[in-house]
Amino acid sequence: MIEATAPGKVILFGEHAVVYGRPALAAPVTHLRARATIEETGAPDVALIAPDLGRQAILSQVNPNNPLAAIVRVVEQYCGCSLSDGYSLSVTSAIPIASGLGSGAAISVAVIRALAVYMGDGRSLSTAETSQLAYEVERLHHGTPSGIDNTVIAYEQPVYFVRREPQPVIEPFVVAQPLRLVIGDTGIRSATKDVVGDVRRRWSADPHRFEAIFDDCGRLAEEGRAALAAGRLSVLGTLMDENHECLVRMTVSSPALDRLVAAARRGGALGAKLSGGGRGGNMIALVTPETEAAVMEALLAAGAVRVFTSDVG
Ligand code: PMV
Repeated sequence: MIEATAPGKVILFGEHAVVYGRPALAAPVTHLRARATIEETGAPDVALIAPDLGRQAILSQVNPNNPLAAIVRVVEQYCGCSLSDGYSLSVTSAIPIASGLGSGAAISVAVIRALAVYMGDGRSLSTAETSQLAYEVERLHHGTPSGIDNTVIAYEQPVYFVRREPQPVIEPFVVAQPLRLVIGDTGIRSATKDVVGDVRRRWSADPHRFEAIFDDCGRLAEEGRAALAAGRLSVLGTLMDENHECLVRMTVSSPALDRLVAAARRGGALGAKLSGGGRGGNMIALVTPETEAAVMEALLAAGAVRVFTSDVG
């Protein structure tokens, strides 16, 4: 049996603006993981199984849009070999789907890692190759991904990321003082593809206004990187608050996200913002050991369906 995993992620600064070439900062959520397993079954075909979703399919018969089959095809094409009949590929994930925590990219990276071991006689793909293949899968699903999700998830470390052609800028960022984040889930699922598409329509209708918001997000990401390197947590919190306001102006927040962000601040967080595609999904709050419990309680009282913590650095 071959097993591989990949983490979820949060975006600290710069979601959406990153699609338009502005810098962004993201960090893995290492205890929340997607898992891919390849097992010999002896059956006459290849089974694709997603038990969490109650789905099972046969590779040779699936609709070409099947997300697991798409990942298998991308890896098969790259590696020049294929998953043989008599094996199953199963995927499970603790990362809630469509909630801004990178569940799709985590599933891709876990599957790519497992397939690489299976096809490569024990030789794994490099991290850069894994990230690139996951990016190709992301492009099949949502047209214009920036590449930040596959990067932070494949590299599994905090990254400063700028979308560039032919290669993005990927730099680990320095965290002088470890961060404790509280993550709060609105429980509202929201497809990143739809939100990214809507932002594109609004940007096309009013490029001047949107470019200015994206510039603000880029500046906040640069200032956030400097605050992280200097260990200035209260400055970082203020910058997160400002980033949330930019996302409100971009129309990607929602009443539920705004409610949780406000509750986290009232509970004593140093700063809070939505994280990921928005219009639902998760928000993050920067806390200290003294404020962590009160912020978690405030989020639950404000309607979060679940809250948990994650450390950066
Ligand atoms: O919602 P998520 O976890 O897929 O985060 C997407 C981040 C965006 O900036 C909104 C899109 C992208 O491709 O960078």
